[in-house]
Amino acid sequence: MMISGTMKSFYTMKTLLFSWILMVGGVSGIGANWGTQTSHPLPPSTVVQLLKDDGFQKVKLFDAEDGTMSALRNSKIEVMVGIPNDMLLTLATNVKAAEKWVSENVSSYVNDGVNIRYVAVGNEPFLQTYNGSFIQSTLPALQNIQGALIKTGLSSQVKVTVPLNADVYESKSGQPSDGDFRSDIHDLMLNIIKFLSDNGAPFTVNIYPFISLYNDPNFPVDYAFFDGTSSPVVDGSTTYNNVFDANHDTLIWALRKNGFGNLPVIVGEIGWPTDGDMNANLNFAQKFIQGFMTHISTGQGTPMRPGPIDAYLFSLIDEDEKSIQPGNFERHWGVYTFDGIPKYQLNLGMRNVGLARAKNIRYLDKKWCVFKPTISLNDANVAPSISYACANADCTSLGYKTSCGDLDAMGNISYAFNSYYQKNDQDEVACGFNNLATLTSKDPSTLNCKFVIMIETDSGFSWRLKGVRDGSVIVVYILYMSFMFLITLF
Ligand SMILES: *[C@@H]1O[C@H](CO)[C@@H](O)[C@H](O)[C@H]1NC(C)=O
Ligand SMILES: *[C@@H]1O[C@H](CO)[C@@H](O)[C@H](O)[C@H]1NC(C)=O
Ligand SMILES: *[C@@H]1O[C@H](CO)[C@@H](O)[C@H](O)[C@H]1NC(C)=O
Repeated sequence: MMISGTMKSFYTMKTLLFSWILMVGGVSGIGANWGTQTSHPLPPSTVVQLLKDDGFQKVKLFDAEDGTMSALRNSKIEVMVGIPNDMLLTLATNVKAAEKWVSENVSSYVNDGVNIRYVAVGNEPFLQTYNGSFIQSTLPALQNIQGALIKTGLSSQVKVTVPLNADVYESKSGQPSDGDFRSDIHDLMLNIIKFLSDNGAPFTVNIYPFISLYNDPNFPVDYAFFDGTSSPVVDGSTTYNNVFDANHDTLIWALRKNGFGNLPVIVGEIGWPTDGDMNANLNFAQKFIQGFMTHISTGQGTPMRPGPIDAYLFSLIDEDEKSIQPGNFERHWGVYTFDGIPKYQLNLGMRNVGLARAKNIRYLDKKWCVFKPTISLNDANVAPSISYACANADCTSLGYKTSCGDLDAMGNISYAFNSYYQKNDQDEVACGFNNLATLTSKDPSTLNCKFVIMIETDSGFSWRLKGVRDGSVIVVYILYMSFMFLITLF
């Protein structure tokens, strides 16, 4: 009795201490990236309530979608609003367009009580996969947006920045002190940094230890987290035990080497996915994000940049419409599932209890679309049906060592069919598959593998319209109608 009581107060003390450290350590609260590439988005007001309930004080957006921005009105949540890369060229070449963007997407919302603090001009525009498409337009767009902010009198309260992938800098030796900007964009980077510095604006960088592990099978796993010691990187008198600090400080060295050692740095994205790859799972994600929170809660910073770290977790909610070109994990970055349920517990320092879930979620009916047990697995229609379902819905949980990786062959056909059916709002036409599929009210989920039921949403309808537009649903529908017509004839 004594012991458990003591233990309990020990844990309470620890939690209180953690919260206290977060506040006193000068961390201005944790932020989250709120992306909306999803077929069944939660209502924006529900998401804003979730952010408040769980103590997120900042949010980073990838565009200025009206529903999202309006929901943030009077919430006090600090907003970094984004400009998509495909707008950069227009904003770079047309001052009036930049002024219009600021007027419509910053001034009007600021006047309406949205706490906008940053404009993110582009999103990782210098990623090598973009083949240099945005090299010319990023800096002029940044300049025009800054000019427009000055003109409207907002430039002291709203700062510009460019969220950049960590591959804009490198260290040939692997030691942070050898850090410098990538040689093909070195001069451009210096011009951008000088512009940010002249305007009191921060550098924003996205850092992904998960990707280090994903890209390199020999990467020491514990170096990706915050409690490892097996593979330190020794850099002069400094020893790095985690790749986050080492990567961050490679940037600080690069800035310092080029004369901007004091430029403020924001970590625009940091996180860990939970599915779609052998290293993407709940344990690793929880360990990484909690480790990161504890790491920054001390206010110690990194060896080269002592002090609080300003960061946005990536991401808030899973997005089932993201491109899986980078990998199958791409749709699983959320701290919450698509329907606003925390995937694992986290102490973000603002509450003593863990994360809450989104409130008042309305689900579709409890029914699933599955493979008919009477059909042979060798049926010639099976393979094309799976391909179709997976191409148009989401099968990223079906690979090796993923959440549904242990299903048998029938199980993974059912998984694919159900995914397509739910994404189409349980439209019966979407559970056809040449008669291979059938509906069931018995949940086919297993311990690790969840056969989802989608949520009700207005934009579920617009997703279906998109399907109609690209012809697939309409063809199925016409076939179905002609079939019914033939039946009535005979
Ligand atoms: C404001 O942002 C939205 C969403 O990103 C965009 O569609 C719209 O074109 C922007 N307005 C202007 C005037 O550029
Ligand atoms: C970049 O170049 C590669 C190879 O030339 C091409 O396959 C890819 O589509 C290009 N990507 C973009 C975004 O232009
Ligand atoms: C489906 O299940 C089988 C096991 O019977 C597995 O070998 C196969 O890789 C799975 N298919 C997919 C797409 O994951």
